[in-house]
Amino acid sequence: MKKSIGLKKTRSAVFISGTGSNLKNLIKFSNKKNSPISIELIVSNNKKAKGLKYSNQYEIKKEIINFKNYKLAENKILKILMKKKIGLICLAGFMKILSRNFIKNFSGKIINIHPSLLPKYKGLNTHFRAIKNKEKFSGCTVHFVSSKLDSGKIIMQKKVKITRNDTSFSLKRKVLKKEHLLYPAAIKKILY
Ligand code: GRF
Repeated sequence: MKKSIGLKKTRSAVFISGTGSNLKNLIKFSNKKNSPISIELIVSNNKKAKGLKYSNQYEIKKEIINFKNYKLAENKILKILMKKKIGLICLAGFMKILSRNFIKNFSGKIINIHPSLLPKYKGLNTHFRAIKNKEKFSGCTVHFVSSKLDSGKIIMQKKVKITRNDTSFSLKRKVLKKEHLLYPAAIKKILY
């Protein structure tokens, strides 16, 4: 997947389910001259996702996909992705688990950001669990997506110190700041 600077940007899609702060950050990154990606599509399984507002704001096409029937939903997305010649999928707070079949179609081209230092704290409520276990550090990870939840090859991580006064909320905020640095850096790492 490596490419050198000056080549065409990789056409990318960002999948979200909620706030979309990583989406916004990736859009800003993609708009930089030397960015290796362009964002061509926003996909959401949730029609109420706040992040969908960035579709209008930045004039990026959005697709809202109902996942009641997983197979139909994934087939619909796959068709759209092929049509738009998408070469990279960035999951950013996307709350659905993609099937093995879907992942096979985009093998090595789906990445995710997770709010913990994987392999620790896969799944949900990472900040709460890290604090409860009296961890000294937490952080975030960008990794390739495999069919096992939060288990694909790690691309990059960033650490955050957990202080005595941290709550899940304050830790989430601290980690999110790091996420916004990490995601672009990880994309550069795999594409440059
Ligand atoms: C982030 O913490 C990300 O690591 C996790 O979901 C959250 C999404 O936040 N996968 P946002 O919607 O990008 O603000």
